[in-house]
Amino acid sequence: MINIPKGTKDVLPQDAYKWHYIEDTARKTAALFNMKEIRTPVFEHTELFLRGVGDTTDIVNKEMYTFKDKGDRSITLKPEGTAGAARSFIENNLGAGPLPVKMYYIIPAFRYERPQAGRLREFHQFGIEVYGAAGPDADAEVIFAASSFLEKLNIKNVKLNINSIGCKTCRARYNAELKAYLLPHLDEMCETCRARFEKNPLRILDCKEEKCKALNRGAPRIIDFLCDDCSAHFRKVQSLLTAGGLEFNIDPNIVRGLDYYTKTVFEFVSEEIGAQGTVCGGGRYDGLIEELGGNPTPAVGFAAGIERLILLMENTGVAFPEEQGPQVFVAGMDEDSRIEAFRLVCALRREGISAECDHTGRSLKAQFKYADKIGARHVIAIGGNELESGECNVKRMADGNVTPAKISEICAYFKEME
Ligand code: HAM
Repeated sequence: MINIPKGTKDVLPQDAYKWHYIEDTARKTAALFNMKEIRTPVFEHTELFLRGVGDTTDIVNKEMYTFKDKGDRSITLKPEGTAGAARSFIENNLGAGPLPVKMYYIIPAFRYERPQAGRLREFHQFGIEVYGAAGPDADAEVIFAASSFLEKLNIKNVKLNINSIGCKTCRARYNAELKAYLLPHLDEMCETCRARFEKNPLRILDCKEEKCKALNRGAPRIIDFLCDDCSAHFRKVQSLLTAGGLEFNIDPNIVRGLDYYTKTVFEFVSEEIGAQGTVCGGGRYDGLIEELGGNPTPAVGFAAGIERLILLMENTGVAFPEEQGPQVFVAGMDEDSRIEAFRLVCALRREGISAECDHTGRSLKAQFKYADKIGARHVIAIGGNELESGECNVKRMADGNVTPAKISEICAYFKEME
């Protein structure tokens, strides 16, 4: 037998309703915020992520599914959605239309990480991106979109943590300060962080190695080095969140695992799903579009991990509305009535009424059992008497209530019920 690859999961038919619910809620939230869907390929040129996500990040250094295609091109399965959306924004000149451009996606993403609860190698994200709005109200809107999505799912026990990691100006001042702090400890740091020291010292703060984490606890905080513009921007984001009634904590340790962020960064975190508690993360990334060859365009967005949301909802007993079984199951007692049952099912479906019949030659009793198992809401049994009289009984499965009906009017009977 061939097993599923490590770090991936099947969504089985009996669980798919949970995914549908989350995806439907994502689409409804996006529509509320006037966002249109973007679909980009599952794979992109590797170069996009080297430049987009950043070549000092764990994602690029350790986690990408990269391979040569038959044309000898380096291809990568997307580890996240922002870089692909940004590439498409530039390539399709979406910035030429009215700004801001607001879009969302529901995508699979791939990272070669050590699998554990809430951490997979193939996972799924609902993300949104807003291009062309530089002001703090766009940051607040994106955070509100994330919060509204979680609220609609009835998820309550998550905390919103925010931070600002400044712009190029504040970053230069901060990097100098951070390097001065880290320099005497270079020998204590992991090899990756020693390489990051010159190229991108901020990234050291996101290191998962214990020795680096210990060192990072005493490091200067970027929030204390914000320039006037970034500082005012961050204050305004906070007032807008407060005005909208959203509680938040300022967490100066959030730096995020991707290099493109500037100014506001944020995460919605739960304590109910173990070590991988971040269900949603995002922030502003004003330099990415230019970095990828487009006109300078401010941008802000987030992505939420669907597997982590499902885990959180399951762990905290948040209900998923279950998909209903067919409206009606039509059972046939013998060869002729089975044909009539099949004809009725076809007619019902044509009228938009979900209907089912037996395809495996079950006895009448077994058909009733089966109808119950698949959650059919009504059952009609057709036999010689019914064929002759043109009348049948409709049994409501919830309470066993039986109502007579004309077979020729059965579609209208169920239509009235809708
Ligand atoms: P991220 O924080 O890397 O950000 O991922 C966003 C979310 O995806 C995480 O909060 C988590 O719920 C989920 N996630 C990440 N890795 C895994 C994994 N291995 N297994 C399961 N779930 C995972 C981004 O990807 C950015 N592109 C978000 C963004 C959009 N920023 C601006 N726009």
